[in-house]
Amino acid sequence: MRRPIIAGNWKMNKTPSEAVELVKALIPLVKDAEAEVVVCPPYISIAAVAELIKDTNIELGAQNVYFEKSGAYTGEVSIDMLKEAGVRYIIIGHSERRQYFNETDENVNKKAKAILAAGLRPIICIGETLDQREKGITNDFVSMQTKLALNGIEEAELENVVIAYEPIWAIGTGKTATALEANETISAVRNAVREIYGEEGADKIRIQYGGSMNPKNASELMAQSEIDGGLIGGASLKGEDFSKVVKF
Ligand code: 13P
Repeated sequence: MRRPIIAGNWKMNKTPSEAVELVKALIPLVKDAEAEVVVCPPYISIAAVAELIKDTNIELGAQNVYFEKSGAYTGEVSIDMLKEAGVRYIIIGHSERRQYFNETDENVNKKAKAILAAGLRPIICIGETLDQREKGITNDFVSMQTKLALNGIEEAELENVVIAYEPIWAIGTGKTATALEANETISAVRNAVREIYGEEGADKIRIQYGGSMNPKNASELMAQSEIDGGLIGGASLKGEDFSKVVKF
């Protein structure tokens, strides 16, 4: 059985004091949640959020990382730094990073391997553009992204891997994939995992949906057989909304 995982990706929102305020509001709202709850604030608020959530059921995530251990990489943050700060999950390959910051499949794979080697958990984002969906190549495209991201990762590590399927046309647009569309694509992603690792690997890996997921549509999405969680943008910025998604 895969435990549902709902993660809030705050993106470039919330100053440190606002981050503290949001987490303080969230703690009592999600304390009896059955799903695993993760918040991913901007780097600058990670330490403050870590302190607030240390005796709670909320896990800490980061929105990016660099794969090298240390050195002359101005502006970057390492896995060990995040680990010491209390981070457990790291989002990699988000479509916004692929689009604006030249994140490649190769980098995503390097990051995934380095994160797992450090004992942390990657949330690997994949997803098609509207053009790709209209051309009917969604399943091929997301399957390829999945295989490239997982290249060289052992089957035993898959229980620590989360994939977030986020159709780019559904991010921040208010357009959600229908629950059936999301389930069908996620099923194709799981098939890609099955092709490499077999049934056990495919059963182990958790796959989230992301893209305008909110308190209204969460329960229908989460009721789908292949959907193991959500990666939430806009609706994770208000404690009340996020807690409703968490409790779908
Ligand atoms: P929205 O929920 O704002 O559409 O963002 C989804 C997302 O990109 C989460 O990573």
